[in-house]
Amino acid sequence: MNLDNQTAIAAIKSTLDRPIVMIGLMAAGKTRIGKELASVLGVEFADADEEIEKAAGMSIADIFECYGEGHFRDGERRVMSRLIDNTPKVVATGGGAVMDKATADLIFGNAIAIWVRADINTLVERTSQNNKRPLLKDGNPHDILKRLADVRYPIYQKAPIMLETDEGPMNKIIETTLGLLQDYLNR
Ligand code: S3P
Repeated sequence: MNLDNQTAIAAIKSTLDRPIVMIGLMAAGKTRIGKELASVLGVEFADADEEIEKAAGMSIADIFECYGEGHFRDGERRVMSRLIDNTPKVVATGGGAVMDKATADLIFGNAIAIWVRADINTLVERTSQNNKRPLLKDGNPHDILKRLADVRYPIYQKAPIMLETDEGPMNKIIETTLGLLQDYLNR
């Protein structure tokens, strides 16, 4: 769908009766694409990782370090149940959010999930640019991401929309996303 087609974009917005939730492996582009999508649709954007950090008053790396992954997932579940509130908005999640059963039920039951997918080598390249991802600290990032993909893809694929991303320009990615959303909402 062309980004100039304001009528079609307005039609999507008016049909949207629940949040759109971006899921997928770390560094797939959930936040980047989610933010842009929210801006084009003229709805609110929230980043779950950022909200967790705000609520905890510490970074994700520190939460993992001091309290462990279980504690992080509890906070993530609380934040997601606050963010998924039946209003049109876009929410970017952390890659492991759907591995918690209650969070997954909330996302797949009360939101429109978009699985943002990118090649593992792309994810390795992107995640190597900073050390914000505690799960990649202890081992070979390619092996870890591959293992996470094996476990998580069966859950991610419950999303009604799958967005394959590459290095193309953001406006093309958003046009593709809007087209997929339109098809889904018209079903
Ligand atoms: C995680 C992904 C991270 C963050 C945390 C755990 C995961 O978010 O929530 O480090 O389990 O895949 P991004 O997907 O935004 O990197």
